[in-house]
Amino acid sequence: MIRSATSSPLPSTQNGAVIMPNSAQTTQAGNDSAVESDLNAPVDLPNRIDVTNLNIYYGAFKAVEDVSMTINPQSITALIGPSGCGKSTFLRSLNRMHEVIDGAYVEGSVVINDKDLYGPGVDPVAVRRKIGMVFQRPNPFPTMSIADNVLAGKKLNSKRMSKTEAAELVEESLRGANLWNEVKDRLDKPGSGLSGGQQQRLCIARAIAVSPDVLLMDEPCSALDPISTLAIEELMLELKRTYNIVIVTHNMQQAARVSDRTGFFTIEGTGKPGKLIEMDTTEKIFANPAKQATQDYVTGRFG
Ligand SMILES: Nc1ncnc2c1ncn2[C@@H]1O[C@H](COP(=O)(O)OP(=O)(O)OP(=O)(O)O)[C@@H](O)[C@H]1O
Ligand SMILES: [Mg+2]
Repeated sequence: MIRSATSSPLPSTQNGAVIMPNSAQTTQAGNDSAVESDLNAPVDLPNRIDVTNLNIYYGAFKAVEDVSMTINPQSITALIGPSGCGKSTFLRSLNRMHEVIDGAYVEGSVVINDKDLYGPGVDPVAVRRKIGMVFQRPNPFPTMSIADNVLAGKKLNSKRMSKTEAAELVEESLRGANLWNEVKDRLDKPGSGLSGGQQQRLCIARAIAVSPDVLLMDEPCSALDPISTLAIEELMLELKRTYNIVIVTHNMQQAARVSDRTGFFTIEGTGKPGKLIEMDTTEKIFANPAKQATQDYVTGRFG
């Protein structure tokens, strides 16, 4: 069942706690533990990501320590935690964007489709093509047309396409990003002429145009108004049928509304590495987490 962000009631809060996370996962079962174990069990489908003992460094500084997690395909995984705990750093390590920073490196493994992204001979550019990224601020190329923005990644990555192929890809990607109807009459106009929410959907169209396996999203709605935010959330719920989606968010309600599983990261103090404290079904993390630190964070007592 595809849930709609707008048709499901918003999570309500009680003492700051989000008490109605992603309820569609549990309504049918009547047996919470069975549902939880299903969602937590590694899914044997393509594009599952298995992270094992990952340490992430900026030079001598260890920013993230010893993270192991399984990220299931055809689902949305939310990463939450206080500022500076390493969520963005961790996300960027999932498609080898981390190492574009001078002196940055990782230890450990990130395996997808039986291949360690950090194994010998793996081309980071090929990894980034298969594992796309959408950033906090919509970043279309401002002077490029809407159509060319959609094609930007494709043109960088492959040989020339025919005009017909390009037009088809533009339409398909914009439809996939729920933007086609709004822009179909101005495809040759600059991407910068769109609203913030439209620009973010344009960036999603650009990301999906290269047919990635995974979509990483770092606070994709933090610069957007609530209506655009709901549009992106609806889109994510549709896209998860096809993609493995990982989203970093500071918005607890958003994590509760869209994600299937949630990982909580935190940091003990300045200069200390961020750690994954707990990962479970979103239902469990928000309603009944195992760790006190998680409880404190999701109820707003910390961070
Ligand atoms: N380019 C960089 N060079 C050196 N240190 C960095 C770099 N980027 C991030 N860091 C450090 O790594 C740690 C984790 O940062 P990161 O941006 O991953 O946190 P975050 O959880 O995404 O925070 P926020 O919620 O504020 O976005 C911080 O201590 C940060 O200062
Ligand atoms: Mg961040």
